[in-house]
Amino acid sequence: MSFGISIEASTNKKQKPDPKNLVFGHHFTDHMFIMDYDAGQGWHNPRIVPYQPIALDPAAKVFHYGQTIFEGLKAFKKADGTVITFRPDKNFERLNRSNERLSVPAIDEKLGLEALRQLLLIDQDWIPEEEGTSLYIRPFVIATEAALGVNPSQKYLFMIIMSPVGSYYKEGINPVKIFVESHYVRAVRGGVGDAKTAGNYAASLKAQEEAHERGYSQVLWLDGVHRKYIEEVGSMNIFFRIGGKVVTPALSGSILDGITRRSIIELLRHWGEPVEERQISIDEVIEAHRNGTLQECFGTGTAAVISPVGELSFNGEKYTIQDGSTGELSKKLYDTLTGIQRGIVEDSLGWMIEI
Ligand code: COI
Repeated sequence: MSFGISIEASTNKKQKPDPKNLVFGHHFTDHMFIMDYDAGQGWHNPRIVPYQPIALDPAAKVFHYGQTIFEGLKAFKKADGTVITFRPDKNFERLNRSNERLSVPAIDEKLGLEALRQLLLIDQDWIPEEEGTSLYIRPFVIATEAALGVNPSQKYLFMIIMSPVGSYYKEGINPVKIFVESHYVRAVRGGVGDAKTAGNYAASLKAQEEAHERGYSQVLWLDGVHRKYIEEVGSMNIFFRIGGKVVTPALSGSILDGITRRSIIELLRHWGEPVEERQISIDEVIEAHRNGTLQECFGTGTAAVISPVGELSFNGEKYTIQDGSTGELSKKLYDTLTGIQRGIVEDSLGWMIEI
């Protein structure tokens, strides 16, 4: 089913960046998908057009009240040229969960997947093939009604843009250093911490900036009430391997339900590795470091993939993990996940969707 998506092909093809030197999210493909929403008409006019700026009224609600949602997923090209995507259905499901939380009208997930398929077909030459690269896909919704009352917008735009990317962190697949934040908080239960909405990221910037100044890549957030239970890192979920068991914070309502997080749990269980999703306090992690049972720590995310953590800083103390090198399980997970995504490791859990 085509869902009546119209296509205006670009006549002015851009120069592609060097796939060996890709910086995350700086280059965009030749086309984008766009669709309008008006109360009464619903979502309509789905179209693929040349990548271009959009004009918005300065009173558009997104600028004032932050009614906006985004997603992040990736496409890859196999050696035979087939284009494959990693669990895109899960991203469109999550998009609608976030939409629901932010009072944005739901988007037909099948239409979203078809829009993505058609956009990937037209821009497939933009998928980089070097190891460690991919085409990062950013679907998003913004509230466009020009009105200053605080109530759900009567107009929206849904768009998909795409960017050829290398690794998210400058460290590549080498371990990152993480600052455990005890002053600022990211989200609280009942808020919007489990929705993929811009405000969560805006609220994280100050802490991230301060962590950068201290030499750390990212911030590890603690819960907003007790200030002791581990939540997530700025751009990824977090896992620990303690005494042979993998532990990750349970989804509490203030943590993002990461698709890579979920996939790693499924993969570990498929391998017969025990995984606990539960509350885990920073004190438990520090104690495991002290008694020598903290074996590994790694983050998971679409952009971050599997990112080993080599050092945690908490309350002025530094805790080195695995001598600051990549742990055995982190490496195995990275190799398996990226192998499945590139089509060179068997996709035994049925994650990849061919375009
Ligand atoms: C992702 O991993 O796709 C994210 O959305 C994290 C970040 C780039 C904001």
